[in-house]
Formats: sequence, structure tokens, C-alpha cells
Amino acid sequence: MQFHFALRLAALTAVIFTLNLRAAEADPALATPSAAVSPREHLSLDAGWKFHLGDDWPNALRLDKAGSSGGPASEKFNDNSWRSIDLPHDWAIELPFDRAADTSHGFRAVGPGFYKNSIGWYRRTFELPAADSGKRIWLTFDGVFRDATVWVNGWLVTRHEGGYYQFREDVTDIVKFGGKNVVTVKVDATKFEGWFYEGAGIYRHVWLDKTAPVAIAPDGIFVSSSFKNTSAKGAAQVDVKVTLLNTKTNRTKGIVNCDVFSPDGNNVIRIEKPYEIAEGETNVDLSILVSEPMLWSPENPKLYKVVTRVETPDQVIDQKETEFGIRTVGFDKEKGFLLNGQPYELKGTCNHQDMAGVGAALPDALQYFRIAKLKEFGCNAYRTSHNPPTPELLEACDRLGMIVMDESRLLGSDKQNLAKWEEQILRDRNHASVGIWSVANEEFSVQSSPQGGNVARTMQALVKSLDPTRPVTYAAPQGDTFDGINGVIEVRGWNYHIGQQMDDYHAKHPDQPNVGTEQASTVCTRGIYENDKARGYVSAYDDNAPSWAHKAEHWWPYFADRPWLSGGFVWTGFDYRGEPTPYAWPCVNSHFGVLDTCGFPKDNFYYYQSWWTTNIVLHLLPHWNWAGKEGQEIRVDALSNCEEVELFLNGQSLGKQTMKRNSKLTWKVKYAAGMLSAKGFNGGKLVAEQKIETTGEPASVQLTPNRATINADGEDVSVITVSVTDAKGRVVPVAGNKINFAIEGAGKILGVGNGDPSSHEPDTFIGQPPVRDIAVNNWRWQLGTVPAKGAVAPEYASDFDDSAWNVIKPKTDGDTGDMPLRDGQTAFYRAHVKLTEADLANPGVQIRFACIDDHGWVYVNNQRVGESKDWSAQPVFDIKKALHVGDNVIAVGVRNDSGEGGVNPDVNIELVGKTVATGWSRSAFNGLAQVIVQATKDAGEIKLTASADGLQSATATITTQASAGRPSVP
Ligand code: GAL
Repeated sequence: MQFHFALRLAALTAVIFTLNLRAAEADPALATPSAAVSPREHLSLDAGWKFHLGDDWPNALRLDKAGSSGGPASEKFNDNSWRSIDLPHDWAIELPFDRAADTSHGFRAVGPGFYKNSIGWYRRTFELPAADSGKRIWLTFDGVFRDATVWVNGWLVTRHEGGYYQFREDVTDIVKFGGKNVVTVKVDATKFEGWFYEGAGIYRHVWLDKTAPVAIAPDGIFVSSSFKNTSAKGAAQVDVKVTLLNTKTNRTKGIVNCDVFSPDGNNVIRIEKPYEIAEGETNVDLSILVSEPMLWSPENPKLYKVVTRVETPDQVIDQKETEFGIRTVGFDKEKGFLLNGQPYELKGTCNHQDMAGVGAALPDALQYFRIAKLKEFGCNAYRTSHNPPTPELLEACDRLGMIVMDESRLLGSDKQNLAKWEEQILRDRNHASVGIWSVANEEFSVQSSPQGGNVARTMQALVKSLDPTRPVTYAAPQGDTFDGINGVIEVRGWNYHIGQQMDDYHAKHPDQPNVGTEQASTVCTRGIYENDKARGYVSAYDDNAPSWAHKAEHWWPYFADRPWLSGGFVWTGFDYRGEPTPYAWPCVNSHFGVLDTCGFPKDNFYYYQSWWTTNIVLHLLPHWNWAGKEGQEIRVDALSNCEEVELFLNGQSLGKQTMKRNSKLTWKVKYAAGMLSAKGFNGGKLVAEQKIETTGEPASVQLTPNRATINADGEDVSVITVSVTDAKGRVVPVAGNKINFAIEGAGKILGVGNGDPSSHEPDTFIGQPPVRDIAVNNWRWQLGTVPAKGAVAPEYASDFDDSAWNVIKPKTDGDTGDMPLRDGQTAFYRAHVKLTEADLANPGVQIRFACIDDHGWVYVNNQRVGESKDWSAQPVFDIKKALHVGDNVIAVGVRNDSGEGGVNPDVNIELVGKTVATGWSRSAFNGLAQVIVQATKDAGEIKLTASADGLQSATATITTQASAGRPSVP
């Protein structure tokens, strides 16, 4: 230790220290100590999983005896033939569309009615060094869709219901230090939770944490800031509540110290406090005054950091970093939402979590990509409809600047729901971005009842007890209704219902603040200018909204005129799969987004950008490729915040119009090919120009990566815009060419998309090896003396005469065969199988037994191929080398220890073919498509080539720079 522990303890007289972080000099002695001094390791467990789709082991879960689950849950299970994958992973995106599948989930062949596609298995083997013995080992799943059964080394660890909540297990007792461990997860997506695409699989991160027996409890740090008054002026008090957890019995004492770093990282001050802990939990509360804080806001997302360290007199026993923001949030009944004490209009969007190409499994870089896209049109708030978010989404919102309405999945004050709600709050409450909690969305059947009100009150009270710093709302699809939830909730949320009812409600309940939790639901398809039911497209003119909803130009002026409404959240920022309102098949996507599923802007993007940002905006629609419509009137809209806009066709003025605030301008123009252009004026001065030209035919493909350099960490991605251009390089707005992609170098394609709400093209082109089964039938058996340790016996020989042996009796109960051996008996089993030259040409040939009970030695043509020691495993052996063309003999020596035993005659030879490398492709939709490329761990270059029939091809080069990546389990 570098300092004198006793002296420091004695010096602790005050709990609150004052810090002027701007003025303070950096103290090198207080620089963050290396994480190596702390036993805590936070390791990614995303890479290196094996995956199998299908409910092939319905009886794997055993509840009669501990640690004895079978099939893939067993340590001995051979998963060689399973697919290798890295997390996050969403298998639903890999499935075909099917008209019989659920409309609101986007017609993917998963969920109710698609049982075979709805159960997935994951396995990950890892070693724990012997030196870790004595540490606590935790497994955390950030989110699995949906119900997960988790085993470690054959031990059942948890059965977690639900697709959105994190779950964490202390697996210390059952892991092997200095040995191999296996985590098995069965994921069951047969049941839906939402009415929108939800994905399937381990679609968020998995972590393995190691801590000392006395450590900071999981989610055991809460940092909050407050001011003497609500105006966020003067010094801020920063409170750090540290919960310690002691998982062993000895009483431990020492100090907790916190180094608080300013946003620029230069200034730091340490605060500290003693602790003493017996078994269980204890809290240590520390406070500091920051005299001139840099306040967090979406426009200026300044983040402080606290490094919390737990020490005993001899060592550092834990250390953890927490980012936080100094800011206040609240609501005022008249002024609406307040950020740092000032009225702050929420220009929000609601969003689901899926994206083109990847479904629900977004690498972190895509969270940042999406938040940045929303900010481009002035969106400053994000509602995580209708579920707890991925932690990295919140991190992107903290760092890029976005206020989050953090929503639960379901209204409920039952023990389980409250526990989940509590975990969500504890997990998310340090995020500067989280500004409002939402207890639920549209709970139609209970929201007006006294019971609905009671439950909401309980959930709200739980928030206040865990996080008194943030307001609470409920997304209510009601008008002037105060009964039930609305009567008890702190902030009245409004899903739709603009107009008289809202004004009346406010007049009757003037003390309750209000927020537009969900508004708009305008439906538009990017680049389409008339409704087309057959193809499932809606015009992008901002003309269509379902009966409950409103056009952009309708809801926003209403809210903008009423400061007490606080602003609101558009349904939605991005299109998502499912809810193809107003259509159904062949439409598979929603049309509500300001951006499509790729993040390409629709025209409404510019409406919001005009009125939500201070940029000068001038945008014209539609495109100007209307061959065949010469002389016909076409409506032209200008989306702009300029005071006046003048429109021109081929240089001829079509008149100047004055813009009304929160509105748009419209002309009727007789179509003639050429150039449509506009000039925008403020105070009579030209401030903006915009033109749209009639393009030529498609001539080439262009590739534009959003990032030309990414990290070689196996996770980072570049999002590449694919555009079809004419000979002059102009995007052809009606092009639908099919584009083929090839990739070389240090990366792979993760997925493709184009934003077409009716596209049934695949998002992924996964190369899968074809597997063909040859059943091994006609088994015979005979009791006999099986030599110990699998030594050779005459019964294994190819030419042994087994014709007088017993034939396996078929069972009548649907099982595959009799298990005739009784306690302690041993026997031989034999069967013949004919194989051709073509069969043996397959790269892999293996034999799979449904069950060998209890102990078996397997021979093929008198050569030993393996041994099975676990009756519940489904053993697989590579046998290619032992086989020949013609008749082959499979022989098994079996020892049955207890109960019924033998060889289950459900045995198959699996011919594993060559992985067929299917080429990646996607059609352009109205000129654009998208490819998401992910780096490997090799520094170097990725070359993505796009080609299409008759078009000049293009190659994009992305550099992958050496990166340590995040610490991960090898
Ligand atoms: C809302 C609902 C959303 C979505 C939307 C479509 O009522 O909360 O989840 O379904 O309608 O307009």
C-alpha cells in the first residue's frame, strides 16, 4: 500500500468534501490505479458459442437429481456438429418469412405455430484458472428472447422467464477452478411478449464477472446529484451510495474511497469512508460538493466518472468505474419538462430495438449509429418502448446526449414483476440519459380500474424509494380520463388524443404535469409517393395515419403551442419489423418511422429537422423521375424552416410562399423532366438552395461506409450505404437493381437491408453445412462379458456371426426401443450399415446415439471410435476413418449400472457436407441498400465489393485498426 491506512482513517472527519473540479489541479498520486490491483474482472462471454436450432432434447432438464441434466446440458455432450457463433445473436432473422406466421411480429417463421424453429440451444466451454479459486463467479445475461434455461456443468442454474430483463447468477459453487466448464442455455421463443418483432436467442451480451468474496454488490453503486434549489445553479452535491456484499462469514473492515473525475479527465478528488461488514450487505454513503459543475444535457453530454475502490488494511479488494452526469430533471405543471431547472421541450421518438440486417442483435456500434441518426433531425429524447433497454443503448444516450424514458415491460405489483422492476431501476439509475421512468404502456383492460391505480402506485413508490431523482409516468391511451392509473401517476402520459380532451383534462387537473408519451404514428414509405396496397407501400407525403394517430404536421404544432405538454415522443424514430399498419402480407415492416429500418431518412425527417433543430433546412419532395407523367400535375412539398421559399422548374419560378411555423409549403407542378429547385430566404436574404434532378438510367453502384476505420476487436462495425447512381453519379431514386456483395480481408458481412417494408429477401446468408442422416437399423444384442476399459472382444469384429442374437423389440409407447439390461448387466450390440463412395466423400461422417445407458464402448469395423460414460448424453463420434464403401459393422459393448439399460436403437450416421458459401445480395429499394460489415480481431483491411448486372461495380476499403478489445473470457 502506498498510503498509511490508519492515518487516513483518522483523518476522516467530514463526510462532505467540497470540490471545485474546474480549479483543482490534477494530483498524479490519485490517478486511476490499474485494474490489475483489484480482483474484479468484468469479462465478455460473447465469443465462441455453439448453436443448434430445434427442440431435439426435450428431456434434457432433469428435476429428480442435482447436476444430472442430460443432452446438451451434460458436460460430456459433443457439440462438434453445432454451428459456431458469437453473441449477440438473433436466430429469427435467419428464418424465412411465412404468410402463416404472426403479422405483428413481421411474418418470420418463429413463435406460435412454428415450434421447430422456436427452441434454440447454446453452449460455451471455458476454463477457469486454478488461481481464481476463492473468488465469486457471476454469470450475467443482459437479455435473452425468450425463456431461458441455464445450466453450468450439468447443474440447473436458473429458469428465467421473459425476453427483456437482465438476469444474473452466482455460479461459484458449481464451477471448476483449474478446469473446463460448460454453460448451456436452452432458449424458448415459442411465446411472444409484445405485438412487434422480438427476435429469438441470446440477443444481448453475456458477462462473466469475478469478484473477491467481499465486493461491491451487483448494481451496488448509485451516483446522484442534487442542488440546493431546483435551478441547477451553484454547487452540486454528488452522492455515491455503495452497497457492499459479503458472501463469506468473516467480518471485514476497511475504507471505501471514490475518485471523482471531471469530464475532461484531468481533475480528480478523492473522498473516502470506513466500512465494516459481516455476512450480507451493507451501505456506505459518500458525498461531495462540486462547486462549478459541468452540467449534462443532450446538447452538451458532459460525463463525470467515479472510480470506487474498496480496501482492507492490506489490499484493494474491489474497484469499479461508474460514469454519471450532473444534472437535474423534473416536470412543472405549467412549464413542462425541466432539465437543469429550465423548460426543455422533449422532441422524442419511441423505438423498438431491431434494425435491418441484424434483427434484435445489435453490436454496440449500431446503438451509437442509431442514436446519432436520431440526433440528426433534432430528436433529443428516446422512449424504450415497451421494455427495459439494452445497457449499451443507455450508454450511447449518455455519451451522445439523449434523454431516455426508461419503460418496464408490464404493469404488475406481484413479487416477480416488482423484483424485475427493481432490478431495472438499480441497473439503469446511474445513467445521465435516463430522465423519466415509465411504469407501463397502454394497459387497456386495467388502466381505469382502482386495481390498476393501486399497482401503478406501488410501482411508482418503488421508483421513489430507489431513485428519488426522477419523475414517473405511464403511457396512457386515454383522453379525459382520471380514473385508475392516471389519477395516481406523477406525470400524465398521453398516447395520442390530441385536441379538446387534452385541454379539458389539463383544465380539470391543473396540478398534474403532462407529457406526450406516444404521438404521431404517421405512416410513410421511403421514396414512395402514392399508396399502393398490393405492394404494401404508403405515400411519404405525410398524408396517412391510422384512426387513433396523427400526421407529423398535425400533432407537433399542437404540442409546440402548449408548453405544459412538455413535448412528446413520435411513434417511431425507426421503422421496425412487424406491425405493418395499415397493411398485412406481403408487408412485413412497420411504416411509422421517421427513418426506415436501415436508418435512411424518409421525407418527414426534414419536417422534424426544420422545427426541431436550429439548422437551416430546405428539402423538396418527391423525387423528379416521373417519365410518362409529362404534363401531369405533381404535388411538390418544401420542408423547411426558412421564412420564404421560392420554387423553380428548369429555372422558371413557380412562385414564392411564406412559411408558417411548424408547417410546410406545397405547390402543384406540371411535370417536365429536368431540375426542380428551391431557394430559401430569411429576412429577404437567400440562405438555402436545394435541387432535385431527373436522373439517367442506373449506371453504377457506389459504396459509402459510415466509418472508414473501425476497431479490430471482433465486434466493431461499419455501416455501408449502397447507392445505385446514374452516369453522372446521381442516386437513381427508383432503382431496384439486385446487388451482389463479396467480402475479403479482416471482416465479415453481418447483415443486409434496404428499408423496403415488403421485402422478403434474406437479411443474412449464413453458410450452413448440409447434414444428411442415414439411420442405423436392425440392431441385435446379446448378454456377454464386456472387457474392461473397452479392450477388444471377438463380438466387435466385422465377421462375427450375430445372426442368432436377440432383435430389439420395438416399444409401443412411442419410444424407439426396448432397454433390456438390468442392474449390473453387460451386453454387446451390433448393426450393419451400407455406405457408398458418395457418402464417404462428405468432409464429415459421424455417428450419433440417442442414448447409451450407462457406459458404452463403440467400435466401427473392429476399430474403437470412442466411449460414452453418461447415459443422459447423446454421444457423437467421428467415424470417417474407420468406414469403407459397402457393409460396415457398428458394435457397442454396454454396461448397465442400474435400472433399465442398453443401447437406444435410435442411431444415425450423419453425413456433414461442405459448407455452401452462398453469396450475399440485396436489391436496392428506391436507390439505396445497406450492408453491415463487422471486423475480425485482425488488424488490416476489409474490402467489400458490390456488383450488379449491367452496372459498374464498386469496392469500399475499411481499415481495421489494432485494438485490445474488451476483456473477454478466452
Ligand atoms: C400504440 C402502441 C404501440 C404501437 C402503436 C402503433 O397504441 O403503444 O406499441 O402499436 O400504437 O400506432
